[in-house]
Amino acid sequence: TIGPVAELTIVNRVIAPDGFERSATLAGGIFPGPLIKAQKHDNFSINVVNQLQDKSMPLSTSVHWHGIHQEKTNWADGTSFITQCPIPPNGSFLHQFSAPNQTGTYWYHSHFSTQYCDGLRGPLVIYDPDDPHKDLYDVDDESTVLTLSDWFHDPTTVLNKILGAVTDNSTLINGLGRYPGGPMSPLSVINVEQGKRYRFRILGLSCDASYNFTIDGHTMTIIEADGIETVPETVDTLPVFAGQRYSVVVHANQSVGNYWVRALPNIGNQSFADGLNQAILRYEGAPEEDPTSSPGPSVLPFNEASLASLMNIPAPGVPEIGKADVSINLVAGNVNGLFTINNVSYHSPPTPVLLQMLSGAQHPSDLLPIGSVYELPPNKVVEITLPNTGAAPGGPHPMHLHGHKFAVVRVAGNSTPNFVNPIWRDTVSMGTVGDNVTFRFVTDNAGPWFFHCHIDFHLNNGFAAVMAEARDQLPIVSASIPETWASLCPTDNPYTKS
Ligand code: C2O
Repeated sequence: TIGPVAELTIVNRVIAPDGFERSATLAGGIFPGPLIKAQKHDNFSINVVNQLQDKSMPLSTSVHWHGIHQEKTNWADGTSFITQCPIPPNGSFLHQFSAPNQTGTYWYHSHFSTQYCDGLRGPLVIYDPDDPHKDLYDVDDESTVLTLSDWFHDPTTVLNKILGAVTDNSTLINGLGRYPGGPMSPLSVINVEQGKRYRFRILGLSCDASYNFTIDGHTMTIIEADGIETVPETVDTLPVFAGQRYSVVVHANQSVGNYWVRALPNIGNQSFADGLNQAILRYEGAPEEDPTSSPGPSVLPFNEASLASLMNIPAPGVPEIGKADVSINLVAGNVNGLFTINNVSYHSPPTPVLLQMLSGAQHPSDLLPIGSVYELPPNKVVEITLPNTGAAPGGPHPMHLHGHKFAVVRVAGNSTPNFVNPIWRDTVSMGTVGDNVTFRFVTDNAGPWFFHCHIDFHLNNGFAAVMAEARDQLPIVSASIPETWASLCPTDNPYTKS
């Protein structure tokens, strides 16, 4: 665990989280990376130091703080080629930002190539000691963080050359798991005391897989989604897409024993034999052995349409689809094995979009990469529709927007919009063919913000666009840019001259 003022060193190290040894790219040398633990209103000052040396994987890096809005600090978002040049080996980058009013469960990961699949991902939690809603879900312990991640035995430099779906080798819960035919490697154990109530934070840190998360014999009351407190909703299965987070309250109200915690992936090996895709919930007093519990009872399904934010914030703008100030329809597809949004496949520009915008020299339509940048005027209600035509393979696609939380006015699997008490979050599934997931936000945060599928292999193959927001307010952003920021970019860069 580290605090909000810290050094985060990125190194290569050989690890065997599922019993198979491979070289990985790691924050702090561990998988997942260290928990960054902050309190509400803390200022963050995190120096990312690049000490990568393993030439079989990318040597550059950048680290993004997923879900943190970076209000007025777009430059600190950590997104290679959008908000900064990548950090070269032996270089470093100091991220200074605050997260006013943000609390809850977040994460950080590499935003360079598919580097987070090689290991660079970890949890970030902002605690609120004075949470006004504490009584709603009074818990005895809120220290448990459960990261769900897919794990690959080959580096992504190899995997990226595979055409078609890349399947993982194992599911790691808190960095431990097993793979089919592998050794009986240790599994994560979550210790509880009978009669107590726990807040578990569940994080989807995967590169591709989504999970159906369950705990044998126990229900879960959802109280948070992507940093937003929700109206408590009790379920016994929880879908977790890449990039999403939930907090749930679990009451240890069963008999003393061991219970399987299951993260069933939507791709790869879906067996529960030999502890695959599982961790152990262990009551105090139970023997130290594998559970023999069975799944279920599965009588309280998750219903995305009934998720509502506790703060009851209505969606901004006129409550009718198509009636926002700005409506943008983004149609996902694929051409020649690359993903597209509105027929354009995203390629990283040679110069970060923020640097292009600050140079001021470019006409909006000239912003590189051409066709992938959408200019958004300031202080308007933007509505994004994501019709699922089925043309983008490998779904459901979890779509993530940087710089904002957004009101999901139409969720997958439900055509009735909800403008009254929608869930606000930062990563939403596009659902299946026929869905038209729709969300809204207000353009109150200047800067270029990446919008992309959080399946990292899809992002790497062009499933992305850039929302270039409130250009006129960029001086607010530039005011806090440290001198070291532009120095990461090559000096012969035409944009760094001015
Ligand atoms: Cu979780 Cu663009 O990132």
